[in-house]
Amino acid sequence: MRDATLPTVLVTRRVPQPVLDRIAAVADMRLWEEDRPIPREVLLDWVRGCAGLYSLLTDRVDEEVLRAAGPSLKVVSNMAVGYDNIDVPACTAHGVPVGNTPGVLTETTADLTLALLLATARRIVEAAEFVKAGRWVTWRPMELTGQDVHGSTVGIIGMGRIGKAVARRLRGFDCQIIYTDTQPDPEAGALGAGYVELDSLLKASDFVLVHCPLNEQTRGLIGARELALMKPTAVLINTARGPIVDQEALLDALQRGVIGGAGLDVTDPEPIPPDHPLLKLDNVVVLPHIGSASVATRTRMAHMAADNLIAGLRGERLPHCVNPEVYG
Ligand code: DGY
Repeated sequence: MRDATLPTVLVTRRVPQPVLDRIAAVADMRLWEEDRPIPREVLLDWVRGCAGLYSLLTDRVDEEVLRAAGPSLKVVSNMAVGYDNIDVPACTAHGVPVGNTPGVLTETTADLTLALLLATARRIVEAAEFVKAGRWVTWRPMELTGQDVHGSTVGIIGMGRIGKAVARRLRGFDCQIIYTDTQPDPEAGALGAGYVELDSLLKASDFVLVHCPLNEQTRGLIGARELALMKPTAVLINTARGPIVDQEALLDALQRGVIGGAGLDVTDPEPIPPDHPLLKLDNVVVLPHIGSASVATRTRMAHMAADNLIAGLRGERLPHCVNPEVYG
């Protein structure tokens, strides 16, 4: 039975039940039950009159959604650290705070970055498929040989929380670490990481790791020109957002041997179509955006997003707010 005294919230996907229970205890919850993104027309319909919107990175939250919600909307809470799916300036203009989930997924995403780096450099996926296909005939001196990660030069684009967590791990591999960002990071020196401009990083690195957020400055940051600067053996790893890399330029570079390989946890679009030519290349490993996908981390992210949502419903400051200027 609907409790008309409670604020209405829209939750755009089923998250762990204890999280839904917390939300249902304080709100009248509209839940999109299907395990696929809520269709746009349903989102626009169901958000009408809501006080809270609990969104995922697969939902575009823009002016149209804010208008559909109307003046009752008090909070948008995104279950992700990234919020490129949300038009934050529009939310600010409507006086709506936006919550995200920073910190909690840093180490898990750094672990996955290392796994993808090693898998791509050492051809792990290709080798496992080789065995399954019955092609392991004998031990051959140069079969499935890849590249060493230890002792290599690794370039990190974006020395934020995840970039630093990756740099810490790479010190154990005796890598030389260089990085670029909008400005030098005061904590990077302690990690043995030296600041360089993007072009120098691309020229010098054996492995280039993308860890910057997606925004208007970073969209298409790695295109044909940048790929051409990289070593012919270099491997590009992207666990940030697909559109930071020009995917068609990457495909072309891989097909023509401009660079040596790529490991992608993110693509543009997501999901990547199963017949995409990138998926035919042996020197490419593509994962379905699983950087933060450990049970513990995804559960914590879901709770953190509920914390933000509930605070917003109560008119309290969100614990993790990406547009604090909304509080004036
Ligand atoms: C995020 O949180 O932004 C990741 O891409 C998904 O965990």
